[in-house]
Amino acid sequence: MKVMTIVGARPQFVKASAVSHAFRAHGRVREIMVHTGQHFDPAMSDLFFEELDIPKPDHHLAISGGTHGEMTGRMLAGIDTLILAEKPDWVLVYGDTNSTLAGALSAAKLHVPIAHVEAGLRSFNRRMPEEVNRVLTDHVSKLLFCPTRAAVANLQAEGIESGVMHVGDVMYDVTLKARKTAIARSAILDRLGLQDGAFSLATIHRAESTDDPDVMRSMVAWLLKEAGGRPIVFPVHPRARKAAESHGISFDSLITIDPVGYPDMTRLLMGCVEVFTDSGGLQKEAYFHSKPCVTLRTETEWVETIDAGWNRLWTTPAYQPRRSIEEYGTGQASEQIVAALVKA
Ligand code: UD1
Repeated sequence: MKVMTIVGARPQFVKASAVSHAFRAHGRVREIMVHTGQHFDPAMSDLFFEELDIPKPDHHLAISGGTHGEMTGRMLAGIDTLILAEKPDWVLVYGDTNSTLAGALSAAKLHVPIAHVEAGLRSFNRRMPEEVNRVLTDHVSKLLFCPTRAAVANLQAEGIESGVMHVGDVMYDVTLKARKTAIARSAILDRLGLQDGAFSLATIHRAESTDDPDVMRSMVAWLLKEAGGRPIVFPVHPRARKAAESHGISFDSLITIDPVGYPDMTRLLMGCVEVFTDSGGLQKEAYFHSKPCVTLRTETEWVETIDAGWNRLWTTPAYQPRRSIEEYGTGQASEQIVAALVKA
């Protein structure tokens, strides 16, 4: 059985690492790894392949930048060629990026069945490019692997019931392994001169946070006020760096660092007091490391983190009462995905 995996952006490398390990452990699946090139900085791409032990991509399309249409269109053409040459039995896509949509659309038109990991998430905000990508991807997918029960319900509400499975969150699978590696390998706290329990961790990268100078400026001011003098470690995504430069916004009051690899990020999560982020993945990772999170958006797809009192939106003042979240599973989501693919 041949599965073509399409990845392109940092969070997809993390998720694909878990499933790729499960493929190799299973032994009867040949995975063809395609990197679209959407994220190309070594610190946002190559480093993840090395640190998370992901096989070197079989194909690298080196496509990034431009408008969403240009990027997606060029990816479609590139992936078409690869699907025709490789003739996979399945195309496997992750999450909600332009690489996800390109992989799904290309496979759908070539009549190759699609499996979508992290299916069913919705922000109900169609102005987000990610929302458009995930809605369209779900509607052409044959197997839809949901991390949460809310995701299953979202699909049901859109009339998608066949092929839907609640398997838990592959990022939890990765987190369980990453803790040990982080302790053994990461020297990030020493490098920054920080102690466990003495800093906050922040990330900002979405277009909605960075495009408008007023929004971005108020976000930085909010971070400083909220942290109340506690140092804030801020690994800066290239989009945020570019936006800050063009808007004339200073990050001088934050401890800015270049994007870090997974063991360093895990170590920062383990050592921080709280997380402030507009990222999807980090909201859950905060919970996995038992850290409260404030989401720098006006809605979130990970509603259970809010309901369980571990996350709140920056527009709401207080957390709900705290409880644990069972639906992310027990760290075996990737094995379940591989088993379902092999059986299908
Ligand atoms: C993308 C995804 C988003 C995901 C995020 C994770 C889409 C629509 N968005 O957003 O869902 O949460 O990845 O990071 O697919 N750039 C570099 N170096 C890089 C990568 C990007 O300089 O290695 C630049 C790009 O040229 C661009 C900007 O950063 O100017 C934004 O990159 P882009 O690929 O458009 O999307 P992200 O903001 O990373």
